[in-house]
Amino acid sequence: MITYDEKMKLMIDYKYPLSAKYDPEWIYENKMGSQCLWLVESLTRIMTLKPGMRVLDMGCGKALTSIFLAKEFGVTVFANDFWISPDENWKRISEAGVENLVFPIMGEAHNLPYAKNFFDAIICVNSFQFYGTADTYLSDYMSHLLRDGGEFGLVVWGPNKEFNGKVPDDMEKS
Ligand SMILES: C[S@@+](CC[C@H](N)C(=O)[O-])C[C@H]1O[C@@H](n2cnc3c(N)ncnc32)[C@H](O)[C@@H]1O
Repeated sequence: MITYDEKMKLMIDYKYPLSAKYDPEWIYENKMGSQCLWLVESLTRIMTLKPGMRVLDMGCGKALTSIFLAKEFGVTVFANDFWISPDENWKRISEAGVENLVFPIMGEAHNLPYAKNFFDAIICVNSFQFYGTADTYLSDYMSHLLRDGGEFGLVVWGPNKEFNGKVPDDMEKS
């Protein structure tokens, strides 16, 4: 059985140096399935994020990725979620000291409360699979929120190597 300390060590990987600066307990206690800071850090390597930009963190969960983007890139983040209340996220945002940059919002993915062309960037970290599965989801519900030339970034976790035709035994059981 894996100990708590071993679990904390698993939250840090120096392949993701920005994420490695954050408290592993804070990540572990608030993550919703995956080490979301690694996912968002990998996205930021291929996106252009600059201070002053407005970013929609769609399906932000407990807003860890929103806090990360504000701290690391100085962007203004609309931390939009459906399951986690804005009250809960505001507490975490304030404790992280980014209350001037991160705004917690409750919004359902098919009825988002934002103006057309409002965002410079939209990111979805381990969430698009919950609401974006219809072929026309992006064109019907999301793309109009992005300004001309804005960037859309989507990332979902997966295995770190190919299965080569056979799912590993330990994964097959679950
Ligand atoms: C697995 S959690 C990931 C949260 C966060 N992005 C992370 O990586 O820690 C998926 C998130 O998608 C959000 N979500 C699911 N369906 C949604 C919907 N219809 N509209 C808005 N958000 C939704 C949930 O509220 C949930 O927080």
